[in-house]
Amino acid sequence: MTQVTNTVRFVLDGKIVEAQGERRTTTVLDYLREQLQRTGSKEGCAEGDCGACVVLVGELNAAGTGVDYVPSNACIQLLPTLDGKSLKTIESLKRADGTLHPVQEALVSCHGSQCGFCTPGIVMSLTGLLQTVPTPTRDQITNSLSGNLCRCTGYKPIVDATLVASQAGAEQLKLDDGADVALLQQIRRARSPSYNLEGEIVVQPVVRTRKGNEFVSPATLAEVAQYMLQHPQATLLAGSTEIGLQVNKQFSRPEHIVYLGNVAELRRVQESASGWRIGAQVSLSQVERLVTRDYPDFAEVLRRFGSPPIRSTATLAGNIANGSPIGDSMPCLMALGATLVLRRGEQLRSVALDDFYTGQKANVLQGGEFIEAIDLPKLTPGGVFRAHKLSKRFDQDISATCCALSYRLQGGKLAQVKLAYNGLTPFPSRAPLLEAVLQGREPAEVSAQQLDAAIAASFTARDGLRASWRYRALVARNLVLQFLEEAPTASGVDIAKEVLA
Ligand SMILES: Cc1cc2nc3c(=O)[nH]c(=O)nc-3n(C[C@H](O)[C@H](O)[C@H](O)COP(=O)(O)OP(=O)(O)OC[C@H]3O[C@@H](n4cnc5c(N)ncnc54)[C@H](O)[C@@H]3O)c2cc1C
Ligand code: FES
Ligand code: FES
Repeated sequence: MTQVTNTVRFVLDGKIVEAQGERRTTTVLDYLREQLQRTGSKEGCAEGDCGACVVLVGELNAAGTGVDYVPSNACIQLLPTLDGKSLKTIESLKRADGTLHPVQEALVSCHGSQCGFCTPGIVMSLTGLLQTVPTPTRDQITNSLSGNLCRCTGYKPIVDATLVASQAGAEQLKLDDGADVALLQQIRRARSPSYNLEGEIVVQPVVRTRKGNEFVSPATLAEVAQYMLQHPQATLLAGSTEIGLQVNKQFSRPEHIVYLGNVAELRRVQESASGWRIGAQVSLSQVERLVTRDYPDFAEVLRRFGSPPIRSTATLAGNIANGSPIGDSMPCLMALGATLVLRRGEQLRSVALDDFYTGQKANVLQGGEFIEAIDLPKLTPGGVFRAHKLSKRFDQDISATCCALSYRLQGGKLAQVKLAYNGLTPFPSRAPLLEAVLQGREPAEVSAQQLDAAIAASFTARDGLRASWRYRALVARNLVLQFLEEAPTASGVDIAKEVLA
């Protein structure tokens, strides 16, 4: 047990940094720039969009022998979440002999930087990619850069530079973290709860103010449950991609913050023959990998969710709990029949995601209750799942609408239909009248007129910032028609493909 109250301890380039007296909502970026004078990481938007602040956050791997890094937007991550972790910034890349990292060398030689404002974030995103994929394809490179905006150079020389850098080989590309492993072991957070003399769990804060406000970072589910019972108004912090914005843009200062990132039980996925139980702290990047085989359309929706630094921290549970009308994972999860495991103290209950929302940004969670896990069924033989997100830009944009449909064909007719949307209602929801149009019909029998009538009867026509109602209603109908046109035939061949042949 090596925790120290009111001190955030993390490893930075072979040294332990002890940050004392910081606010519980100080961001990693502010701390780097204002306290450590590491001004290489820039602030462009302070809302996770531009990537100028990307850093790499490392944790000991499962075996405790190396460090796994994920890219992260330092502007929306709160400093106390770094406790027990390691950090690499653009300044970390310069080697002891003064030479640059191969990515930096290649950006210079390929003219991949002009004003240079975006460059540190781009270098960190690419260095992160090359740690796990030392010889990436062009697609992998552009995907890794989808959260880095460059306004003056253009991406071609940057992509070319990455390909040049990748020729340096994995050894040269690897971050210098030889000294970090032992230090991470040293500052590792306690993995079991502390108890008082009465045998009750006591959750030690990472940061506590004189007024008694605190940031806690429990290591076990029992601690979270106990703390939430004692402080039902506490703010749960998962990937911080919503909370970080509230801190920066709305100056939100929650009194009690409970960070879930160190809770081992919430970070795991339990797999059975019928499905996955996805812990509340599992990142969207992990979920994307999990569903790629069974549900490629869901994986594609997730691949277009934010950017790699957003997906590497943001969670499915955070997306669901936040309950935005344009939240992207929910239509997919609803069409797939997902249920939530909710915990309050020692009590568990299971609630279908369909029944979770009670209004705009309102849900059935009671005081002290939280999402422990999401149960996602696997694809069963004959099941079909389709989904598509429509947004103005392909990458890193918010939905105009996202539509998800699951069904099976029985005797050529649609059965067990589940259809869900975001962007049409105050919270993502199923569309029962449209489901009724589909149910029991052959895919080719479903007409645009039937769907239009059901859409008009189901939703309140409302223009939004992202799209007019006319556009949303049109694409809500057309996406269903497209999914049905591409429905598998009895022989397993797409109708659309047969027509083309
Ligand atoms: C640049 C950017 C791009 C984005 N792109 C998209 C996008 O394409 N699609 C989309 O849908 N969203 C998008 N978002 C929104 C956001 O990333 C998602 O809603 C994300 O899933 C939130 O998860 P989180 O773990 O970061 O939540 P946090 O910010 O940590 O928390 C969000 C809310 O959930 C609550 N919460 C967290 N965990 C639990 C739990 N276990 N039980 C109960 N409550 C909990 C928190 O208290 C808080 O109210 C984007 C955000 C940014 C900044
Ligand atoms: S400053 Fe723009 S993503 Fe952080
Ligand atoms: S080099 Fe100027 S924004 Fe990218």
